[in-house]
Order: sequence, then C-alpha cells, then structure tokens
Amino acid sequence: MRDATPGTIHLKDYQPPGYLVNRTELHFLLGEEDTIVTSKLHLLRNTEGSSSGELELDGQDLELVEIRLDGEILEADRYELREASLLLRDLPEQCLLSCVTRIQPQLNTSLEGLYRSQTMFCTQCEAEGFRKITYYLDRPDVMSVFTVTIDADASRYPVLLSNGNLEETTLLPSGDTRVVWHDPFPKPSYLFALVAGQLEHVEDSFVTCSGRDVTLRIYVEEKDIDKCGHAMDSLQRSMRWDEERFGREYDLDIFNVVAVDDFNMGAMENKSLNIFNTSCVLCDPDTTTDVGYQRVEAIVAHEYFHNWSGNRVTCRDWFQLSLKEGFTVFRDAEFSSDMGSRTVKRVEDVTLLRSAQFAEDAGPMAHPVRPESYIEINNFYTLTVYEKGAEVVRMIHTLLGPDAFRAGSDLYFERHDGQAVTCEDFVLAMEEASGKDLSQFRNWYSQAGTPRLAVSESWDEDAGAYTLSVAQSCPPTPGQAEKKPFVIPLGIGLLGDAGNLRLQLEGEEPDPELEDNTHTVLMVDQQQQDFVFTGLPEKPVPSLLRGFSAPVRLDFDYSREDLCRLMSGDDDGFVRWDSAQTLAVGVIAEVQQQLASGGEPVVDPLFLQASIQLLQDPSLDPAMLAEMLTLPSENYLAELAGEGAADVDAIHSARRAVQAAVGGHCAQALEQRYRELRVEEAYAASGAQIAARSLRATCLTYLAAAGERGLELAQEQFSAADNITERLSALRVLSHFGKRADWEQPMEQFYKDWGHETLAVNQWLALQATMPDDAAVARVRHLMEHPDFDIRNPNKVRSLVGTFAGQNPVNFHRADGTGYRLLRQIVAELNAINPQIASRLLAPLTKWRYYSGRADLMRAELEQLAALDGLSPDVFEVVSKSLK
Ligand code: ARG
Ligand code: ZN
Repeated sequence: MRDATPGTIHLKDYQPPGYLVNRTELHFLLGEEDTIVTSKLHLLRNTEGSSSGELELDGQDLELVEIRLDGEILEADRYELREASLLLRDLPEQCLLSCVTRIQPQLNTSLEGLYRSQTMFCTQCEAEGFRKITYYLDRPDVMSVFTVTIDADASRYPVLLSNGNLEETTLLPSGDTRVVWHDPFPKPSYLFALVAGQLEHVEDSFVTCSGRDVTLRIYVEEKDIDKCGHAMDSLQRSMRWDEERFGREYDLDIFNVVAVDDFNMGAMENKSLNIFNTSCVLCDPDTTTDVGYQRVEAIVAHEYFHNWSGNRVTCRDWFQLSLKEGFTVFRDAEFSSDMGSRTVKRVEDVTLLRSAQFAEDAGPMAHPVRPESYIEINNFYTLTVYEKGAEVVRMIHTLLGPDAFRAGSDLYFERHDGQAVTCEDFVLAMEEASGKDLSQFRNWYSQAGTPRLAVSESWDEDAGAYTLSVAQSCPPTPGQAEKKPFVIPLGIGLLGDAGNLRLQLEGEEPDPELEDNTHTVLMVDQQQQDFVFTGLPEKPVPSLLRGFSAPVRLDFDYSREDLCRLMSGDDDGFVRWDSAQTLAVGVIAEVQQQLASGGEPVVDPLFLQASIQLLQDPSLDPAMLAEMLTLPSENYLAELAGEGAADVDAIHSARRAVQAAVGGHCAQALEQRYRELRVEEAYAASGAQIAARSLRATCLTYLAAAGERGLELAQEQFSAADNITERLSALRVLSHFGKRADWEQPMEQFYKDWGHETLAVNQWLALQATMPDDAAVARVRHLMEHPDFDIRNPNKVRSLVGTFAGQNPVNFHRADGTGYRLLRQIVAELNAINPQIASRLLAPLTKWRYYSGRADLMRAELEQLAALDGLSPDVFEVVSKSLK
C-alpha cells in the first residue's frame, strides 16, 4: 500500500534493463514464524542498457538481513533502501550479489509472492509477486537460469517442489530435509514457483512425438486424490494436440500440477510446476458441474499451452500481456472446439465477449488489447487482453488462412525461442510467413472500443445485383477520441429460397477451384464501403458476421421473418444462433414497452412458433438447441440498452414474461423433450450427456416460468439426481421460480449432503447469491456470517459476493441502494486484505453510467471508496478512473 497517489507506468517509457541476471540461486529456509530467503544473483551489465553501475532491484514487504557483493558484506552507504526497491551504486560490470531477506508468508493475505494456503506454502509471482520474495529485477525481460534449494521440516512438508528437475534430496543434521531443483530453461521471475506441503499425487506419463517419456503428476490434498482423473486426461490430450496442431513438443522430463484452495485467479503456468485453483483442476460428479468439467479441460490446456506461448517465448513488458494471453486463449479455444462442438464453443465465447468484454470496452476502464499505460498491472488481466486479444489472433488466422497462420506461428516460435518479445514481433512473423500486409490491422492492438458495423442493402431486380453497404465506426474511449478504421473480416453468405446462394462479387473472377462458393469473407477496411453481388436469381437474406468473424457490433435491419429464415435455414451455426438471439432481443424489448405502458404483455406469435419449430427440429444437436432457446441474459440486455438507458427491473420483468409465454405455449414439446433426454446411464462428462442435461435444464426453466408443472419436475429431478449438475439446475429453477416452500427444504438438503465438499458449497453459495427474490441482500449478508464463508478465500468471495454483484441485477441494483452498499463495504474490507480481489469485485459499480435512476447511488459508493485511507493502487486505479 502506498501513501502518495500511485503513479502511472507508460509503454512509451520502456527501457531495457541495466543489468542481466545470468544465473539465480535461491535458498529457502521455510519456517512457521518466518522464512529466510538467500539469493545469489550472477549479474552482468547489459550492453543494450544504459550502462551505468546503478541497479534498482524491486522489493516489497521484505526485511533485508544482509547484503554482499562478491562475498564481501556491503556497507550501508553503498546501497539505499527505498519504498519498494533497493538501489545499488557503482556496481562492476560483472558481479555476484547476494541478499538475505526475511519474509512472513503466513501473514501474506494478498496471495501474491510466497504465502500459505491451508497447511501448505505456495507462490503466485505473475505479474509482480516475486518482489515479495526477494530483491530482484522483477520484470519479464530479465530471464535467468534458476537453481532453488529448499530446507524444511519433512514431517510437515514432505513434498517440496520448484521448477525444472529435482537434482538432490538430503537429510540435514538439523533434521530438516533439503531438496535442490534446477530449471535449465532461462525464465523471468514471474514463472518461478515453490510448493511445500503434505500432498498426495497421482502419476501418469506421456510419450512425446520425438519419443521422450514425460512424468506427469497432479498434487492434491489426500481427500481430493480421487478427483484428478479428468485433469490428467485433459493434460495428456492437450500435449498431443499441441504437437499435432502447432508442432509444439514438451521440453522437460517432468510436468507437475498442484491444486491450492486459496488462489486469486484460475491457474498459473509456472515452468513445469503449474499451480491451479482447486476449482479449476478437481473434478467429481458430485462437486463439479458439466460446465465445470469443460472449464477444467480448457484451463489445463491453457496453462499447458503457455509452455510455448508464454514460457519459451515470453513478454518483453506487461503491456505485451496479450502476446501470451490472447494467443494462448486462441489456442485453448481451438483445442476445446476440436474436443467438443465447434459451434457451441463459439457461441459460448461470443456470449461472454458480448455481455462482458463489450461492456468493458464501453466503460471507464476501456483499454486497447495492448494497453499504453497502467497504475496497477493486476487490473489489466482483463477480458479485453484475454478474450478480445484471442479474437484479434483469430482474425489473423482468418485473414491468412490456416496454413499461412501455422507457418507464421512456427516462424514466431523459432525466431524468438528463449526471448522476451512484443506483440509487434508476433505480427511481423505472421506478415513474413504469409506475405500479407497487416499495417492497418495493427489498429486492433492500439485502439480501444468495440467497432460498430452499420450494414444496409439494396436490390436491383433487373440486374440481379445485390449491394451491401457497410459503414464502420468506433465510439470514443478514455484518451482516444478519434479512431482510425479497422480491418474487419466480415464472413457472409446469402440465403435464397432454397438455401445458400452462389456468391459472385462484382469485378472479381469466378473461382472454379472453389468448392464452397456460398461463403466468403469481405474485407471491411474503410469507413464506408459497398460490396455488390451479381447474377442472383432472387433477393437474398444476408447471413452476416458468420462465425463471429470479428469482435464488432453489427446492425442490420432484419424483418422478424428473415431472422426466422436464417435461424432455421442458414449454413452457419453461429448465424443461426445469433438470429435467434436478435429475434429474442426484439421480442423482449417489445414486451418491455408493453409493460411500461401498463398493458398486458403479448409475445409475438411468430416467436412462439419459431420456438416450437426449434424444439422439434431433429437436425439440431441438443447442446446447440439449448443455446438457441436460451434468452439473452439480463446483463446483455442492459448492455444493449446503452448508457443511461438500462432499466434492470423492466428488463427482468420483460424477460420473465417472454419465458413464461414460451413455456406456456410450448409446454407439451418442452416436457416431451425433457423426458426423452433423461440420461439413464451413470454420470459421464461426455459430449452427448452434457448436451442432454443442458437442454433438459433449458426445458425445465421454461416449464417452471410457465407454472407449477415445471416446479414439480424440478422437485423430482432434485431427488433423483446422481450428480451436482442436475441437483443445481433443479435447485436453480426452484429458487428462481418457486416460493420459499418450494426451495427451502432442498436448499438445506443440499448443504446437509454436500457441506463437507468445499467446491460444492461454493456453488451452493453462488446459487443463493443469484436468487431474484426480495430477501436476497439479507440472505447474502447472512451467508457472509456462515461458518463456510471466509473473506480471505477468493473462491468464497467470488461465489457469494462476486456472483451477487455480477449476476443478480435486480437485487444488486435495488433502488434502496442496499446492494451497492454491501459491495462497497466488502471492497473496503478486502482492500486491506487482498487488493487484487477487491479491485476485481468492484467492476459492476464502475458501470454506473448505464443505469437510469441509479447512477447517483452508485457514484456515491465509489466516492466513499475514494475517500478511504490506505487505498491500494489496485482499487485506487479503478475508483479514480470510474469517477472521471
Ligand atoms: N498467467 C495466468 C493465466 O492466464 C494468469 C495469472 C494472473 N495473475 C495475476 N496476478 N493477475 O494463465
Ligand atoms: Zn494465461
């Protein structure tokens, strides 16, 4: 925590380091009261640096015990201890600097650096946690070969792990055990890891494409040893997939994963020692939902893929974070698509992007995929850097095609292996390998905000010519009033009466080689452009933004009939889903207006008819059908309403009314599907079973929205379920649509049965946090006093408070302000305990400009936070930028 106003760091100020650390030797003496860290840094002046003998090492919350230069104790006048650094002067060109520091991991509640989780020691160093362990050049462009020695009491800490290979284990005269780990690959400090604890492990192996045998281990607490199978299987499939799809082979003989309960994020890709939040690695049918299984698969893959995109080739500075995160999210999304349904995965990703990343782009924290400044880097692990960053990589993939993209990826890895590089280096490799010019495309890295495409059509019957006029624009974002045009790949098709039509662009040669001439990608790269299609037998319905080919908003004035045609007849799965969404958005808006003018809601019969047709369409896979039937979320509808126009209560009522109308109109078809899809076999997280359960949950929701029958079925489902997915989907329906008498007993029962499983309890907390009834705020406060709640555990805080603020719009935005107050109070408390989590939790308050009639209340809470003493840089940055 700083006293003065925290400063801003700018990309334009980047300077190479003055010294390099060729080798880093660390010695840890782990103790209950304090931990002694001794470092030996083999320093060499950097010829590319400023070449003075001055060196400023980062260090935070450290007690300096001793410092030596080339073996000699350094007197106090040779160095200066500053607020968050150690400044050394007159250093020779090459030297050995050794520091002894004392730290107290057991008091470290920020969960960065070395800290305790339950009975174990563990680390989280990305982005700048290493400086809480010892004085160091804690920046990603300083890469060093690490040797780590750990001394600890083996009875408490029988498992002692760090990066790389275990070189020796000895018993010390003191009775402690000593282990030495050596990682042959140079790495930045953010990839360092250490784990010590009483852990069990499962072991398996993987033979790489060149025939090397790799030992794979997952370390967990003994009680969780049976929950590792899915993660191990996911790891093996990830390793194979990365060889086949990207030509990337694993490079050490051992790969370890450790599960910890107290963790700020999902997981961390430390070299050969990935550390995971338990919620992202453990799987069991009674504690992990279907979505949870898929998440574990994706995160295991994501962290593994970082071994190349992140570790072998890393980032020069933290402004380049998307270099590793955007690329790795793209890679894990491709992996998940190959493992399951590509269209469903795409729909899930787009849903997240549109409901949350677009909001970020439209809010006070908006920043480009490659930010230009920050106060606290932890605030920039965002949907923009990760998910939009992945969309940018996906667009490069679309522009280059799969083969040139792979060549670009190969060139990037080969050219920069062992280096710390920039987004620019990535783009250059893609350009060189493909011969394509990506100059204008680079605007995606430098400009914030979600571009908007306004598309209109004209039809010349006599000429058989159809024109699409496309105008692009991008709203202003903080610090960027004007935007230059983006390069926007716009996937399209044209739908005729009998299916998709052949495409012939005016002025282009027909391509006889082309097998599929019903699909093309238009390059939108100017503010205003016309695309003319010729030789058409009839006026088509345009199928636009196929596959969600770019992260943009697209406006086209479709009639409801045309949306229905696209929904049932287009070749592109994404467009089919998107048309259903657009149709639903229109219908909900209409009902919202009817309710506002005091009328009875009348849901367009066309929509009801379309829903029946979907339910009876045998060509749709159940997972896809579930997506198509799911109405746009209240958050997304609020986002669409725009600044000053989101009315959460009206949105909630209108959406409910549409749900009830569909549920009533389609009752028979819904119940029939619900029954047919019942899974008779034992639980498996297979594609078919997951799809069936997901569609059953959708059907059940509609039935319950319409009346008692759905609640009856939900009670039955709750009692009969042999897995948490069905228990929770039943409980959700009961608690969202039923009366207290409907949900009270099963809610208690769930806790009685599964209260001993932390991960199940977290979901039980989260479900209660979403309940839309009037007692919600009181319930959340009550649950904060529950013995299972712990403000120091991020999973608990996220499950209860994060879910409440993010997924219970009617109660978070209560007109009496009690929802906002609850959030502000816990953020204020967390500010002193765990600033990273405090700042993340705050996000829903930053959107105050959206909420009509609530903006003042929301601002007032932000102002209260701004006035707090001892505001962390994390919270300070979000609060001050939001109030601007
Ligand atoms: N690199 C990790 C991942 O995406 C995330 C670590 C983020 N840590 C943080 N303190 N923000 O896999
Ligand atoms: Zn990552």
